[in-house]
Amino acid sequence: MTGSIAASRLAMLTGDFDRSPAYSGLADRLRLLIAGGRVEVDLRLPSERDLSVALGISRTTVTRAYAALVEAGYAAARQGSGTYTRLPGGRRQAFDRSLTPHTGSDDLIDLSCAAPPAASGLATAYAEAAADLPLYLDGTGYFPTGLPALQQAIAETYDARGLPTEPDQILVVPGALSALMVVAQGLLRARDRALVESPGYPNGHAALRRAGARLVGAPMDVDGWDLDAVGRVVKGAGPQLAYVIPDFQNPTGNLMSNAQREQYAALLRRAGTVPVVDESHQALRLDGRPMPKPFAAFAPDAVTLGSLSKSLWGGLRVGWVRCPVGLVDQLVAARIAMDLGSPVFEQLVAARLLAERESHWSARRERLRAQRDALAVALSERLPDWRFRLPRGGLSLWCELPDHHHAGALDLSAEAELRDVAISAGPAFALDGGLDSFVRIPYTRPEDELRAAVDRIAGAWDAVTHGPAAAGTTRRTRVMVA
Ligand SMILES: Cc1ncc(COP(=O)(O)O)c(C=O)c1O
Repeated sequence: MTGSIAASRLAMLTGDFDRSPAYSGLADRLRLLIAGGRVEVDLRLPSERDLSVALGISRTTVTRAYAALVEAGYAAARQGSGTYTRLPGGRRQAFDRSLTPHTGSDDLIDLSCAAPPAASGLATAYAEAAADLPLYLDGTGYFPTGLPALQQAIAETYDARGLPTEPDQILVVPGALSALMVVAQGLLRARDRALVESPGYPNGHAALRRAGARLVGAPMDVDGWDLDAVGRVVKGAGPQLAYVIPDFQNPTGNLMSNAQREQYAALLRRAGTVPVVDESHQALRLDGRPMPKPFAAFAPDAVTLGSLSKSLWGGLRVGWVRCPVGLVDQLVAARIAMDLGSPVFEQLVAARLLAERESHWSARRERLRAQRDALAVALSERLPDWRFRLPRGGLSLWCELPDHHHAGALDLSAEAELRDVAISAGPAFALDGGLDSFVRIPYTRPEDELRAAVDRIAGAWDAVTHGPAAAGTTRRTRVMVA
């Protein structure tokens, strides 16, 4: 899976660079572009002659810059074919061993995790944030509620969405899942009930269970929230909290309308149930239509969970809780029983990124939109009897398989893994089993990888539906994060 990058495009991305000496300034700039994902891995770089013309520098300078890149592990020269971008240590360094299935193949396309690579500009933000660090080094480095600059930057994102928020209402934690754990520890007593969506985010369910909650599921339709069912569950079970993902729900991709938010909030208010609203995918709107209001605009007692994992990068590990002022002390006490604060450096990086969030997010959206559309086209061509709705945002297609008497999503995902593509089957997202006629396919990889993945999935589907019953297939359970 390789392509190339034109000299004019690379020159545009490179921009101005340090000329003392020029080869090293150019190599540094290229290294940042590759490390930060603005120039993809496995791309053929322009010939030395073309790049020297595009940049108006000598060919020797480009030759030495390429040699420095190769030396640093960011490129490899292939005999007779050119210089290709790479990452030091190889691509597999970028993946966790417990998550990536062990097919032993470097060709694996891992779509089991619905999380995109880092947004462009991340490496630069890390490099620049180092300049902010000295200011903090004289203190203890412990910020159990968060770095004030980041609390402020996060509060401003709510102000901008029409939900006035004070920095003190923000508790910075390492990701939305941590945020949920803090809230669960802070709000739940043993054996309290918690309402969750089914299908829903499995690690969210696990976090609530570990906090001692008894989970009650409210069924999600392919089309959205069934508020009658929610009403019945709330009335019957009287849950202490309801864990809701209104923005591009994982895994269905559904977006809750303003009217539904209002109705949902009223239902919970009547029962004294606290809404715990996971907005992990909030920034990932892929069409031009305005987003509904934040759920908390309809429910002042709501606790909202946010994260930069999906809108910028999971590796930042920056998320937060936004809560009513009256809950802050209770949640800080719960947090302190788990950890004493998030790393200062990542918070500085996050504050910088949030200051320029619109440019990062619009680039991310453009990319995801192209990938979503490429995946949808490939699926419609190769698997025309599969059904899915094109979501207005988020990261995945939730696909319904046609009825088949002996093959389901678990068989398919096991067979697909043998063919070097990993996808998550519906049962992973179900509270009480079932959903074996669904698979989640994220559009978080480049288009050519997605097309190759669909070819392999189509082969796998053909094999499980036309081959012998897949009863003997070994299915491995594995860790799933996103
Ligand atoms: C709905 C939802 N909440 C939380 C998370 C975890 O995100 P974080 O990396 O912020 O902990 C995910 C990851 O997929 C998610 O989909």
